[in-house]
Amino acid sequence: MTGLKLDVSNVYPFVSQDTILGYKDMVHTHLTTLYEKTGAGNDFLGWLEQPSNITDGLINDLEDTAAYLREKVEIIVVVGIGGSYLGTKAIISAMSHNFHNYIEGVRGPDVIFAGQNIGEDYLSELIDVLDRKSYAIIVISKSGTTTEPAIAFRILKKHLEEKMGPEEASQRIIAITDERRGALRKLCDQAGYRSFIIPDDIGGRYSVHTPVGLLPIACAGYNIREFIKGAKGLQERTSLDTPFEENPSAIYAAARNALYHSGKTTEILANYNEKLMYLSEWWKQLYGESEGKENKGIFPASVNFTADLHSMGQYIQEGERMLFETVISVDSPHSHLTIPEDAGNLDQLNYLAGKRINEVNRMAELGTLLAHIDGSVPNIRVEISTINEYSLGELVYFFEKACGISGYLLEVNPFNQPGVEAYKKNMFALLEKPGFENETRAIQERLNK
Ligand code: PA5
Repeated sequence: MTGLKLDVSNVYPFVSQDTILGYKDMVHTHLTTLYEKTGAGNDFLGWLEQPSNITDGLINDLEDTAAYLREKVEIIVVVGIGGSYLGTKAIISAMSHNFHNYIEGVRGPDVIFAGQNIGEDYLSELIDVLDRKSYAIIVISKSGTTTEPAIAFRILKKHLEEKMGPEEASQRIIAITDERRGALRKLCDQAGYRSFIIPDDIGGRYSVHTPVGLLPIACAGYNIREFIKGAKGLQERTSLDTPFEENPSAIYAAARNALYHSGKTTEILANYNEKLMYLSEWWKQLYGESEGKENKGIFPASVNFTADLHSMGQYIQEGERMLFETVISVDSPHSHLTIPEDAGNLDQLNYLAGKRINEVNRMAELGTLLAHIDGSVPNIRVEISTINEYSLGELVYFFEKACGISGYLLEVNPFNQPGVEAYKKNMFALLEKPGFENETRAIQERLNK
């Protein structure tokens, strides 16, 4: 196993190596604060050692539950939003065949999602599908009170109960929630649903290596032991004892903070493999919710190359110069496909004949890197050998650890998300939720002005 590699040498033309190395003591202090649990958000640090703390008993239980569901149904609907959705979606998308919808039955049931939006069309169209298929529901909410998944679950639960009868429906619903608190816990205990616990000390966006991510990933047919093993490898490589220069999460946190203070206030996560598109969505949530506070924080954006070189590429090359780029580079694809010779050569592509598609992709990546450096866009490169459960486990933990350090470098609490409440308060006031009478009056006055 070669393992995840980090290369920040293409930051040096913009921020010197010495500047990045200058973060060494600060990073060590923040890493110590994380491990000693003495900083902001210290009651949400269970993820730090989750890969090594997870028990074999829990993994067996998750695998057995997944096997039971896979045997029983054609579709598993995962209901959740934010940290109860994005990590799972990221890993399953990265692992899935690009055209899995057209290759029925290859890996067992499809895992699909609900509760990550408030879409009347989305839910209605989902029900159209579920009318025709046998299905189960995994409902995930740490608080157990989040509106979007609660609405979706209410609708799907009713549908499943009407379709299968209440008893069979309750065999097909699994809840992942807090051990004691929240409406979902209450409902789950009352209805007798099987349930898994989200540890108290692990917040949503840091929960991919808990049942939140592990159960759906196992349901999709992927190896959660390897996924945990990859994370464990990174946990060991980024420990308090690891020298700064050898700790990829520490260096990444230092480099991006150094870039931020040099005026590079937007970070673009780029990939050259569409399977990683949702990993970027998860990463945006991780960094956006963790760091965007107190009028501070790097703005996390994402692009999928080479597609976006034909859209956002122009801006990245020549627009406002507040950007830096972090590329997730995959060394080897799973497949082998070469470009054929063509006798007519009307498309003038014979110069590529015999080359692998991946070689062309690599040259697109290298060419873009050089062009972007010329255009004053610093580049950080995170390399994995191939996309599999192990490397994805590494990537998730690598970014989580760096995010904890980076948030402390920025002097914010990387484990809360107070800003998310603002829209909820207005929405509840507009919907006249009991308990929000004053807010309803105030918002109506504001709108009637
Ligand atoms: O990272 C977080 O904590 C949030 O994004 C939550 O995951 C999200 O709001 C969903 O919360 P819950 O799992 O309580 O429904």
